[in-house]
Amino acid sequence: MTTAPEKPVTLPGLLAMKQRQDKIVCLTAYDATLARLVDEAGVDVVLVGDSLGMVIQGQPTTLAVSMDDMAYHTACTARGVRRAFILADLPFMSCATPTDAAHNAARLIRAGAHAVKIEGAGPYVSIIRFLTERNVAVCAHLGLLPQSVYKLGGYKMQAREPDSARQLLTDAGALADAGASLLVLECVPPDLALKVTENIPIPTIGIGAGPHCDGQVLVLYDMLGLSPKRPWFCKDFLAESGTPGAAVRHYVAEVRGRRFPPTSPVSIG
Ligand code: KIV
Repeated sequence: MTTAPEKPVTLPGLLAMKQRQDKIVCLTAYDATLARLVDEAGVDVVLVGDSLGMVIQGQPTTLAVSMDDMAYHTACTARGVRRAFILADLPFMSCATPTDAAHNAARLIRAGAHAVKIEGAGPYVSIIRFLTERNVAVCAHLGLLPQSVYKLGGYKMQAREPDSARQLLTDAGALADAGASLLVLECVPPDLALKVTENIPIPTIGIGAGPHCDGQVLVLYDMLGLSPKRPWFCKDFLAESGTPGAAVRHYVAEVRGRRFPPTSPVSIG
């Protein structure tokens, strides 16, 4: 007996998951082999993150990642994916003007991305509006913005104070109004992530943001225990599972079952 092929994940499908309160599972991948593994394990969204600068290229930050790098890794990743929705990062300074944003988003979409991710609000709200009015799907990204690491003074928790938390909430609303379809929230307090998730109509995907977002994302190499320094919010799923495929299936089950991330970050080993 043959089984029907699984339907590809779409933006309306991800929105319906938020509305049904089904958790969205996201992981990074940067090449066809690991993208296939992640896709076959049931991950909904594959992110070709500019974190590849650190985990693939061995750079200290994401800032050196170029559009050529992103287009190459997006094309490699897309060849391994059958079901998942594919997000690709617009890297540092690749979308500072509408013209650059349009040109570079088109490169990533032609390489196989279904949507592009842009870090920040402020001037990027109008850039995101410019893209979405031209039917490019965009994922916004607030909280810790790795492309702004020098301005932020390091990889630290963001929006801890009432003023910065209020600003993030306002920015999230502005980005959703501008047409963003998804919002990554990185390293923000869980209660703020909950407030944002309840206040905007689009799915939120958290990383280091507690258990209340509509979905979760991790860097694949971190959750496989391959990165030299695992972030405080990440668990080594490979140590618990034995093989990369089992580790990713375990992550999918833990996120869908609301066991990861835990309510208290203290319990992450
Ligand atoms: O580049 C990346 O992998 C990301 C995630 C950390 C969200 O942006």
